[in-house]
Amino acid sequence: MSASNGIKTVGLAPRLHNGFYGKDIISVRQFSREDLAYIFGVADEMRAVVKRVGSTDLLKGHVLACVFYEPSTRTSSSFIAAMSRLGGSVIPINEVRYSSVTKGESLPDTIRTLESYADVIVLRHPEVGASQVAAQYARKPIINAGDGVGEHPTQALLDLYTIQSDLGQIDGLHVAMVGDLRYGRTVHSLARLLCLYDVQMTFVSPEILRLPLDVMNELKAHGKSVRETYDVQDIIAEADVLYVTRVQRERFADQAQYEAVKDCYVITPELMQKAKERMIVMHPLPRVNEISYALDDDPRAAYFRQMENGMYIRMALLAAVLGKA
Ligand code: ASP
Ligand code: CP
Repeated sequence: MSASNGIKTVGLAPRLHNGFYGKDIISVRQFSREDLAYIFGVADEMRAVVKRVGSTDLLKGHVLACVFYEPSTRTSSSFIAAMSRLGGSVIPINEVRYSSVTKGESLPDTIRTLESYADVIVLRHPEVGASQVAAQYARKPIINAGDGVGEHPTQALLDLYTIQSDLGQIDGLHVAMVGDLRYGRTVHSLARLLCLYDVQMTFVSPEILRLPLDVMNELKAHGKSVRETYDVQDIIAEADVLYVTRVQRERFADQAQYEAVKDCYVITPELMQKAKERMIVMHPLPRVNEISYALDDDPRAAYFRQMENGMYIRMALLAAVLGKA
């Protein structure tokens, strides 16, 4: 098959049917290294297509339902852009307040409704496990776009893709994750995914925002040697990747506790003077105060590249789960 713009897409077909056709994407635990190498390869192809001609008709006639029970800028709009650039259409429910959820409709009924119209559903929800529940009711693939403090698997894929693209490798790196490791679902997913690689991980947080024990135990079960510290100065000179996160105000029951830790880390150009020349600073975004704007022009600031990569990864995932060639 060739795209409407004449770009050959036939090479995508047999591989896309392999692992993901018709599958839900709920957790990073589903992925092997081979799967990741495959998705990253397709994402590279998607990037090339977008740079050259903007779009293809690979998913023409297919419909994506994008359902967000929590706020989003990047995840929702990059999925919408991904589907549009692949020639498909989108039902965007970015604010469930204006849907029948407000009338009391349950998650299963909402999902059953949307799958009558769409071929794949992207879901963000405040409850851990909501995507898994949705997947139990749905016949169509569900893609988890963040389930409360649980996971954010597509973010972890784009995070890892960015590390691979920017540093040329994943094995052998020292990845330091900084900030709200307790409530940050992107950290939970990325740390789990990094278990597939030979990496050193350090977790930098205040005491009340430490990585949850269940995630820590998973890393240890994979034989990872992990370090924890409160002080970013301890690791700034050693890290190859500094993965900075926002303190998740909306997850705190006690706002006074949030106020006490909200500005615990701020990455500045002064701090970066101590960092390696060949390292990257990442952030899933949105940032609040954790990274100084003065850092944005530093070539080591990878967060805008990271965000762009999200669209290529999501194009690859949509094509994969729809098994389309
Ligand atoms: N956007 C990411 C998430 O939804 C990170 C964040 O909100 O801080 O998990
Ligand atoms: N990184 C991320 O998930 O961003 P949004 O919350 O804006 O979707």
